Amino acid sequence: MIHNAVTDAIIARQTIRDYKREQITDEMLETLKEAAKRAPSGRNMQPCHVRFVQNAEMLHGMHLDFKNLVGWDTPAYTRADTNPFYHNAPTFVLIYAENDSAMDAGIMAENICIAAEGMGLGTCIVGSAGALFNDEEKKKWNEQLHIPRHFRYQIGICVGYPDEQPPRKPRFDDRIEVIR
Ligand SMILES: Cc1cc2nc3c(=O)[nH]c(=O)nc-3n(C[C@H](O)[C@H](O)[C@H](O)COP(=O)(O)O)c2cc1C
Repeated sequence: MIHNAVTDAIIARQTIRDYKREQITDEMLETLKEAAKRAPSGRNMQPCHVRFVQNAEMLHGMHLDFKNLVGWDTPAYTRADTNPFYHNAPTFVLIYAENDSAMDAGIMAENICIAAEGMGLGTCIVGSAGALFNDEEKKKWNEQLHIPRHFRYQIGICVGYPDEQPPRKPRFDDRIEVIR
């Protein structure tokens, strides 16, 4: 295959669930914001609201509410027994959109992940937190995040310096076919 900075970042990206405490630099943050902003969207409607949360106290509060909602012993989410949903990442990105724009949010999420990878950062995409942010009673968080009403959490992304090197996850070999 062809190697360049972009293809190498795409191939090298893998989910990281342990992060160093050190915050990412403001330059990195600006780069990730730009990567989010430049994501394509259907008819360029730009339907997503994105929040980069770097407030550790706020993230911990979200973690407590999340666990109180889904249960402290719920094994449904990866490493939920040891990690908060944001895996102790110093930066957690939340992408919101209206109901029919999940695709746009997903595309933006991958833009952020690849840009982060290119800067030596680790990421973990987090779908499970929707249980908290889309819960009617817990929408207080959405107010604090200045999310317009009717917007729903679509996906989140943990971002930080990686503090683990997990084995690469396998992929199916028979799902991609070239028809000529
Ligand atoms: C839509 C989506 C939702 C995900 N939600 C979670 C999640 O809630 N918690 C988590 O720890 N990982 C989550 N992941 C990460 C996946 O588990 C991970 O991407 C997958 O196991 C493949 O591993 P890799 O990214 O290292 O290749 C999610 C990934 C995607 C694409």
